[in-house]
Amino acid sequence: MVYISKLEISGFKSFGFKNTVIHFQPGLISISGPNGSGKSNILDAIIFALGENKPKMMRVDKLPSLIHDINKNKHGARTTKVKVHFNNFDKKIPIESDTVVLTRELNINGESLYYINHKKITRGKFLDVLYVSNISLTQLNAIHHRNTT
Ligand SMILES: Nc1ncnc2c1ncn2[C@@H]1O[C@H](COP(=O)(O)OP(=O)(O)OP(=O)(O)O)[C@@H](O)[C@H]1O
Ligand SMILES: [Mg+2]
Repeated sequence: MVYISKLEISGFKSFGFKNTVIHFQPGLISISGPNGSGKSNILDAIIFALGENKPKMMRVDKLPSLIHDINKNKHGARTTKVKVHFNNFDKKIPIESDTVVLTRELNINGESLYYINHKKITRGKFLDVLYVSNISLTQLNAIHHRNTT
């Protein structure tokens, strides 16, 4: 089964411009932490990297607001970059590598760049690969649990 083995986040929402690496094991993943600590931002980062273009889906008003601190403009014009590493041992993604790395970058003008295994690719081709691999945003089993106490 194809699963996300690693996530790299830089300059996305609460994540600073230093590269943050998160490793995942197959199976059920639970992310816990205090309110406002960035748990949901991890899921936002995943759907962003997989091509989500509706700001509301990632809980922002416009795509550039995904860039770290953009509203306070502490760092000037920067870009955000998110890499999703898929375990592809069973070759369900039709690419001849055991790990497939999907990368999306976004700049302050709201322009995106897409890469598969570090090779630049058009958004159209990027989405085609996701489609034939059965990876889609609507199928993503992202359950948001909000503790209301
Ligand atoms: N562009 C940005 N730059 C810096 N910080 C940001 C940016 N966008 C969002 N944040 C920060 O992300 C934090 C919220 O993160 P998130 O919603 O992921 O938290 P959470 O852990 O899911 O919280 P809860 O438990 O309330 O659901 C807020 O502190 C907010 O200021
Ligand atoms: Mg949350």
